[in-house]
Amino acid sequence: MATNLREHIVAYFEEHHKVVEAGAVDLLLHHRQPLVVSHQVIERAGAERPFVTREMVESVFAEAAAVPAATAGLRPTAGRVALPAPDAEGFQPIHEGYGGPVGAGSPLVAYSALFQSRYRALARLLRGRPELENLRPIREIRPGEPTASVVGMVREVHETSQRHHLILTVEDETGAIELLVPKDSPGTRATFLPDEVVGVRLRFGKDPRRLPRVEAVERPEVPRQRLLGRARRPARALFLSDLHLGSKSFLADEWGHLVDFANGRGPLGDRAADLRYVVVAGDLVDGIGIYPRQEKDLAIADIVEQYAELGRRLAELPSRLTVIVVPGNHDAVCPAEPQPSLPTGLARALPDHVRPLGNPSTFALDGVVVSAYHGRSFDDLIPALPGASYSRPTEVMRRMLQMRHLAPIYGDRTPLAPSAHDGLVLETAPDVLVTGHSHTYGVERYRGVLLLNVSTWQGETEYQRMRNIVPVPARAALVDLAQLSVETLDFSAGEPTVAEAGG
Ligand SMILES: [Fe+2]
Ligand SMILES: [Fe+2]
Repeated sequence: MATNLREHIVAYFEEHHKVVEAGAVDLLLHHRQPLVVSHQVIERAGAERPFVTREMVESVFAEAAAVPAATAGLRPTAGRVALPAPDAEGFQPIHEGYGGPVGAGSPLVAYSALFQSRYRALARLLRGRPELENLRPIREIRPGEPTASVVGMVREVHETSQRHHLILTVEDETGAIELLVPKDSPGTRATFLPDEVVGVRLRFGKDPRRLPRVEAVERPEVPRQRLLGRARRPARALFLSDLHLGSKSFLADEWGHLVDFANGRGPLGDRAADLRYVVVAGDLVDGIGIYPRQEKDLAIADIVEQYAELGRRLAELPSRLTVIVVPGNHDAVCPAEPQPSLPTGLARALPDHVRPLGNPSTFALDGVVVSAYHGRSFDDLIPALPGASYSRPTEVMRRMLQMRHLAPIYGDRTPLAPSAHDGLVLETAPDVLVTGHSHTYGVERYRGVLLLNVSTWQGETEYQRMRNIVPVPARAALVDLAQLSVETLDFSAGEPTVAEAGG
């Protein structure tokens, strides 16, 4: 098996604080998409039932049999998570954030459903933690008891004027509560971000007029110990991003070096022998009307022509490779996230070995689980996190894993689609998380997850100079899928060079 599926399923239930019977796992192993069913079993079981039995799995199977399309389809619907099949080789879709067009109802109702869905998905990961003693709905919190915990979405944070403590307002489905986070306490180590979901343990003082104090903070996180996917045959994947075709500053010479490499030519050509996948993390073309007076920077001013050029460039990569592309904020799809994959009309310009997916998307490459997200939310997270910078993108990605959310902040620069299901929640912890958008480069390993932010093929533009962004272009991350090791390939100066990457 490409991954030890049994252990992966047990770990999935563990993460959701459920103990799963061996018989239930046996049954799940016979299903083509075991995590789709597991996800449904967990939804059904609710918080009260700590055990998952064979009967519970059977009843989900029975229900699915009544509605065959619901679980039997190859393309998982939003909110459901498939797992690589046993002996998986090749590319396998797991989960796309985009859940279909948004209905015509009231946006207010739709956004409230979106946040409810986020809250529920993330609260499930926090429930049952020993640190969150006496966990209660906010409405049932009574001052006077020594301790209690709540799981809430962060609504507001402000500093008290005199002592620099934090006043934190969190809410759940039953109400909202104001809490005091004392200055220099462990809870203040990480910034609270608007609309993230946290678990907090509280201590109440004798005076009921005083705010409860936050004693401990828990975030959804990725588990410390998990089984990582590994390819069972020699296989490599090349991760790149932000091609910006159509821009005057597209780096055609550097791209040529990359094409030579992928075709096995040049000094690093031997590394391309077992190259099987290329992943492009968005901003495939430069687009039109993305920023003021962009037309000055465009070599191709027509959007259809830009995608035709993208097709020609991707056709230079060997046709035996599977090339996975997700859109970014410069692409011609709805900018609200999660974004759908490229429309058929534009995707038609791409060669057959290209697989367009939505942004974000989770998929397996020879059993290694990859989440790809363009990274628009850097524009909101970097200003919100003290010390964060576009030049160190993996620090922000670490935070995404801690929150298990790719773009929590609502109402700023990242437009969020008002859908009933929050497709930006990281439903399953990936083996690799890849982003772009920053036009810089970074590699890091966090709790076993490989974090990659993979450069750009656009030189510096006037617009970036104005905004003080210094790009680190023409880099790509080459990942050995059997070892989960990574090398940085630098195509920026003639012959490519390889640098051992961090992580
Ligand atoms: Fe970009
Ligand atoms: Fe971008």
